[in-house]
Amino acid sequence: MSRPVALVTGASSGIGEALAHALAEQGEDLLLIARTQSELARVQSEITAATGRFVAIAAIDLERPDGAEAVRAVLREQDLSVRHLVNNAGFGLAGDMADLPAAGQVGMVDLNCRALLALTLAFLPEIRENEGGVLNVASVAAFTPGPGLSVYYATKAFVLSLTRALAFEEHESGIRVCALCPGPVPTKFGTRAGFGQSGVIALTRPLSAKDVAHIGLAGYFGRRTVVVPGLIPRLMVMVLSLLPTRLVLPVLAKAQRQRRR
Ligand SMILES: NC(=O)c1ccc[n+]([C@@H]2O[C@H](COP(=O)([O-])OP(=O)(O)OC[C@H]3O[C@@H](n4cnc5c(N)ncnc54)[C@H](OP(=O)(O)O)[C@@H]3O)[C@@H](O)[C@H]2O)c1
Repeated sequence: MSRPVALVTGASSGIGEALAHALAEQGEDLLLIARTQSELARVQSEITAATGRFVAIAAIDLERPDGAEAVRAVLREQDLSVRHLVNNAGFGLAGDMADLPAAGQVGMVDLNCRALLALTLAFLPEIRENEGGVLNVASVAAFTPGPGLSVYYATKAFVLSLTRALAFEEHESGIRVCALCPGPVPTKFGTRAGFGQSGVIALTRPLSAKDVAHIGLAGYFGRRTVVVPGLIPRLMVMVLSLLPTRLVLPVLAKAQRQRRR
């Protein structure tokens, strides 16, 4: 019998690291994926010390087309199987599409969308067998186009749409399928995206990665399909659903320009 684990991508920092801690606290064994071995080893030893759970790590670049296969090889080598798949690894790039390097923008789609889909398809059969689920980290960005961060917003719309449809398709199988849609959270996301000091929109008093992880897991285990943590992000989503897109776009474009300063 292989050992069932929660597989968390992007677990070496931010929301993924917080989700890994919270899953271990709830009694799950873990396989953690990111590119930076040293940061994964730090998270591994901290979680093991705090919870005593089994924690395996693997440094894999999921932007690569063979990323999901590399994950499968690690699972096979260590005799592990996936119970919960947490597709969290992702990044954004701030700027207009015409001004940003094409490779970075296509790489964003590779990680935020293609890798998430490839991992989901690869492990769905064993997730069903293990009666687990799929938790996809989307964003409030999923609810609107976002000029100035266009590709990122579009990748998150893909994640939200795919998750909602998968939840419907998997209703009979009984597995959990959930999209976690945080508002701005202070992590390394802003640095990689190219935001300035005001990268996390000041008026929102953002939730911590730890709070987002706990709210996200409560929703996931509570079988919610979409979870937007925090009052202000929920209000943002509600307002976005009421306003016509032509009014929203100039406001978002201005906000994104300010975040880049
Ligand atoms: N922070 C926010 O404001 C916010 C809001 C809404 C949604 N989100 C979403 O939350 C998720 C986590 O972001 P975060 O805010 O926690 O950012 P973060 O601190 O930058 O964490 C990103 C994680 O993904 C990993 N990663 C990046 N590129 C990778 C690759 N090619 N292959 C494998 N792993 C990779 C990083 O580790 P390595 O660099 O070592 O690979 C890191 O562990 C993302 O999907 C993001 O879109 C963030």
